[in-house]
Amino acid sequence: MKIMKKLIAGNWKMNGSLAANQTLLQELIEGFPLQPACAVAVCVPAPYLAQFRALVQALPGLSAIDLGAQDVSAQVSGAFTGETSAAMLKEFDCRYAIVGHSERRQYHFETDALVADKAKAALAAGITPIVCIGETLAEREAGRTEEVVKRQLAAVIHTNGHCISEIVVAYEPVWAIGTGKTATPEEAQAVHAVLRAQLKAATDHSDRVKILYGGSMNAANAASLLSQADIDGGLIGGASLKSKDFLTIIAAASA
Ligand code: PGA
Repeated sequence: MKIMKKLIAGNWKMNGSLAANQTLLQELIEGFPLQPACAVAVCVPAPYLAQFRALVQALPGLSAIDLGAQDVSAQVSGAFTGETSAAMLKEFDCRYAIVGHSERRQYHFETDALVADKAKAALAAGITPIVCIGETLAEREAGRTEEVVKRQLAAVIHTNGHCISEIVVAYEPVWAIGTGKTATPEEAQAVHAVLRAQLKAATDHSDRVKILYGGSMNAANAASLLSQADIDGGLIGGASLKSKDFLTIIAAASA
């Protein structure tokens, strides 16, 4: 029997400004449940990691929210212009780093092997990678969903061996991201069950691994998705930019 807190992680993507972030975080703290029964994180653009840390001093309530990055380099240091190392993220006390988001796989041609290496770099620095996997619409329509997500997860399992129980998985069907089209709770649960079985075969501690759902999760559909047996939280894009909606999702995960 799984006894674990759900995780609600916001993925701000390339949105925000110093002023807008402060307003959003202030509103979140004002509406934040006193004892949330779930863990909450926001994955912010890299330039705003320092702002978040500074705001924790001014708004102590913010310490209830963990900080995450949206990507991390697979490299340790050196001539890798534009990249951010796991050690740098750690200096800002990042608890999480998203790796392999479909937008990075699509626009930056990230491969399964690179995503696995990024997860490894994060783990080596004590950062929990939120490993995103998911099929495209064409793959789903061709009946290849299971094959695709298993291949993506297998690469991460292969590279990370016994550390695999330290990762978070986010199943994000590409066709559901930012489109308003959500997988039904049953569709999502079916894939999560496949992933759970794959993790179980890889580690004795698979019950520790949170499998989040992401893709147009919002205030209206969160409760039904989060009630599924193998859905351990959400990776929330658009709805994480609206404090009211994000707070509603946090409440749904705490129920
Ligand atoms: P969305 O994004 O909630 O806006 O669909 C989720 C994600 O891409 O992580």
